[in-house]
Amino acid sequence: MDFVETKRRSNFTRKIVLAAGITAVFIFLFKRSPAPITSTKFSAHEPGVTHVLVTGGAGFIGSHAVLRLLKDSYRVTIVDNLSRGNMGAVKILQGLYPEPGRLQFIYADLGDAQAVEKIFSENAFDAVMHFAAVAYVGESTAEPLRYYHNITSNTLLIVKAMAAHNVKTLIYSSTCATYGEPDKMPITEETPQVPINPYGKAKKMSEDIIRDFSKTSNMAVMILRYFNVIGSDPEGRLGEAPRPELREQGRISGACFDAARGIIPGLKIRGTDYKTSDGTCVRDYIDVTDLIDAHVKALAQASPGKVGIYNVGTGKGSSVKEFVEACKKATGVNIKVDFLSRRPGDYAEVYSDPAKINNELNWTAKYTNLEESLSIAWRWQREHRNGYNG
Ligand SMILES: NC(=O)c1ccc[n+]([C@@H]2O[C@H](COP(=O)([O-])OP(=O)(O)OC[C@H]3O[C@@H](n4cnc5c(N)ncnc54)[C@H](O)[C@@H]3O)[C@@H](O)[C@H]2O)c1
Ligand SMILES: *[C@@H]1O[C@H](CO)[C@@H](O)[C@H](O)[C@H]1NC(C)=O
Ligand SMILES: *[C@@H]1O[C@H](CO)[C@@H](O)[C@H](O)[C@H]1NC(C)=O
Ligand SMILES: *[C@@H]1O[C@H](CO)[C@@H](O)[C@H](O)[C@H]1NC(C)=O
Repeated sequence: MDFVETKRRSNFTRKIVLAAGITAVFIFLFKRSPAPITSTKFSAHEPGVTHVLVTGGAGFIGSHAVLRLLKDSYRVTIVDNLSRGNMGAVKILQGLYPEPGRLQFIYADLGDAQAVEKIFSENAFDAVMHFAAVAYVGESTAEPLRYYHNITSNTLLIVKAMAAHNVKTLIYSSTCATYGEPDKMPITEETPQVPINPYGKAKKMSEDIIRDFSKTSNMAVMILRYFNVIGSDPEGRLGEAPRPELREQGRISGACFDAARGIIPGLKIRGTDYKTSDGTCVRDYIDVTDLIDAHVKALAQASPGKVGIYNVGTGKGSSVKEFVEACKKATGVNIKVDFLSRRPGDYAEVYSDPAKINNELNWTAKYTNLEESLSIAWRWQREHRNGYNG
């Protein structure tokens, strides 16, 4: 009896000690991490998993990149402040990949140094695809500071944060606008960069920051200079939905679709006396699916201490007239076209020489039929008259 009592009592004591111990451990842990313990999958590196920070991932090109990265089993964090992107695109991506540790969305402004520092200290990124920017040539001339701030200064912040947190790989979105008006076509990576508007200059400055820094670091860098991006997800999950107020700044594909839907009365083609086959300007249109494929290949082949610079275009120019004809066929609408005199600042012909990316990254554009790319984009546009809002 006595014996049993003693045993019971010591069991009881043991339980009390254990409970007190556990409480102490919890208090200790709680004190050490005052912030709630969030999705740990994003905060630690995991062997075999590449965690990519996609800035501007709610935007047109960024959202398509996220879709492809998730499909290829990457872990993705989107940072976007939705100033020009769409929460609707993020929701679709979250719906497609709801499993923990696949996709997280962080609402933040990349111009906010403290916010950027917090994001990099709380997450373990292996690579950054830096898409976030403002990207309209006309607007850049009217509001140059908006461009130097949101392109150059924000890129500097990102690169500093990457360096401070030892993030190894950067894929940077640059543009053929950094070349300005070269006198020889096609444009190769050796073509001198003499940008002629704040957009091109801000991107060139960002490239310079990245290239100078890379000489002093072991970062793996790929700079991709895109030509004119068109198209959308062939499976119709994502599309291009710029803010209505940016329509005026517009890109030709958006204007064609707006004309086909009767939102604007028709298209104005400015300049029919250029020295090109039919007198209208010639541009190199690259489908977003091909463009993202170039990013994934660039990410896979980026190597420490090196900067790879590549044009991403088809190598073939199409005239504005050809573009409009393809758009008429894709939409089935006989879009009204007015021919006007030249707009200052436009140059006759721009197209890429994609030999370097073909050879070094084994990348080739596959969606090179304008009508097909525009048909895919039109399907989404027709079903989303208000963009991601329906
Ligand atoms: N669309 C083209 O034809 C083209 C051509 C060449 C290069 N590019 C480059 O590709 C990139 C993506 O372009 P896009 O057409 O997808 O543009 P977009 O406007 O659709 O996407 C940009 C995204 O970045 C976000 N963003 C901008 N500033 C931000 C900030 N301070 N903080 C957080 N988020 C911010 C916006 O909200 C938006 O979601 C840009 O860097 C652009 O310069 C585009
Ligand atoms: C996005 O960031 C800019 C600064 O770059 C800020 O002025 C703007 O208010 C922000 N937009 C939103 C919707 O938070
Ligand atoms: C860009 O920078 C300016 C400050 O120069 C800011 O007012 C603006 O909101 C920023 N963001 C965007 C998306 O333009
Ligand atoms: C290049 O890509 C093609 C597919 O587009 C593939 O069939 C081929 O094996 C690749 N070549 C090399 C050397 O990786």
